[in-house]
Amino acid sequence: MKEYEKTFNKFKDYLKKIDYLNSTEAVLYWDMRTVMPRQGVPYRGEVLSYISEQKYNMLTSDTMKYYIDYFESIDDLDIVTKACYKNCKKVYDKQKKIPKDRYIAYTLAASESEAAWEEAKEEKNYEKFKPHLQKIINFQKEFVEYLGYTDDKYNTLLDDYEPGITASKLDVIFSQLRDAIIDILNKIKESKTKINTDFLKGSFDNKDQEKLSLYILDKMGYDMGRGALGETMHPFTIKMGSDDVRLSTHYYQDDFKSALYSCIHEGGHGIYDQNIDKNLYGTLLSEGASMGIHESQSRFYENIIGRSLEFWKYFYSETKKIFPQFNNVSVEDFYKAMNEVKPSLVRTESDELTYSLHIIIRYELERELINGTISVDGARDQWNKKYKDYLGVTPKDDSEGILQDMHWSDGSFGYFPSYALGNLYGAQFLHKMEQDIPDLYSNIENGSLLIIKEWLNKNIHKYGSLYKPEELIKSVTGEELSSKYFIDYLYKKYSKIYNF
Ligand code: CO
Repeated sequence: MKEYEKTFNKFKDYLKKIDYLNSTEAVLYWDMRTVMPRQGVPYRGEVLSYISEQKYNMLTSDTMKYYIDYFESIDDLDIVTKACYKNCKKVYDKQKKIPKDRYIAYTLAASESEAAWEEAKEEKNYEKFKPHLQKIINFQKEFVEYLGYTDDKYNTLLDDYEPGITASKLDVIFSQLRDAIIDILNKIKESKTKINTDFLKGSFDNKDQEKLSLYILDKMGYDMGRGALGETMHPFTIKMGSDDVRLSTHYYQDDFKSALYSCIHEGGHGIYDQNIDKNLYGTLLSEGASMGIHESQSRFYENIIGRSLEFWKYFYSETKKIFPQFNNVSVEDFYKAMNEVKPSLVRTESDELTYSLHIIIRYELERELINGTISVDGARDQWNKKYKDYLGVTPKDDSEGILQDMHWSDGSFGYFPSYALGNLYGAQFLHKMEQDIPDLYSNIENGSLLIIKEWLNKNIHKYGSLYKPEELIKSVTGEELSSKYFIDYLYKKYSKIYNF
């Protein structure tokens, strides 16, 4: 055993306590969103803010500084120790650079802004939200000044969600993606193929929906022995250590697709979290590599697998057993209905093809808001113009326009690109998976989805955040992130469905 390894073990004992706080927080959130009575909210808020203060103290303590300095002074560290201390150093520096009183002022402004956003959305009134948005943007700009930036202020914000990615890289890949999607959309508009979705109208018992979702999650390899499926307003995945990773969904009696696809999506997140190498516990690296890589896993299952013809060739018979109303619908027609393209105003309701356009619009706008090249006054017109130009639709009010997402109200600038990056990473992983597993599609058609899980476990999941996203994509696929694979995937898929 090398000398530093003994110190690393002590450091891990320290970091494990931060993990315990994270898990405690997760249990409280789960409880809050599933069964806690509404009147419990204020007290729960106090408890959560106490825990978050304890975490802050541990992450910025003298002990933390001591360990960081110690490991920084050693040259021949193994890869885990090195990645661990570097990650801690990044968090430590960041927390220390922002003055505590300014951060507290910001969290207050953010909670006021969230409340104002909720009201403004309800009233469909952007004017009401504007002063709060301005305040949040000012805070973000102030923080960027403390933290420093290279080339573009927005890069510092991106770094929180997608370390290594820059606005100039995004400009290139997102504009290629945007142009390709618009081209495909135009071809679909000209296409004579019309997709019938009438059979998706009707009533679908919530218990039956749950039954189908659980069956599919099991086949995917989500381990219910170390998980749970609950119901909440908005679907999410939450981790309390690798042996307790829970999912939630929301059932709508009149919507067959919504809960099903949110379960498959969250299942992809859940499988990732359940399969991070246990040796990474106590290093703070037992998380996904980035928001974008995490989204690549959920979208991979949701879209690439769960909206494929091969998938439905297997799962359709079980689906018809639970929902006999589909008995007269062919699997091909059913598959097409799962993939209907319909440009719409609301991101969370959009189809696989147009989803990325919703993200690109937000990326283009938030980058300009942070750099001050558009004002909060001008943002709504820009929003509406981009929706008209890219998707051909115009919001009738602000609630289905610029007020639809909560992200800007709580200061999550730099988050949106992760969603579209997830699509790009996923297709690039698929390209490599197809080479590694030549009979991939016949496996899907036979319901043997575990082969996919094993490939993802081996190449992506087990590493947690040991590697940065750019290192991971390079080591798995041999190439840097490119828009090519997702664009090829989209052309191939939609030209078959819409005959162009
Ligand atoms: Co997700």
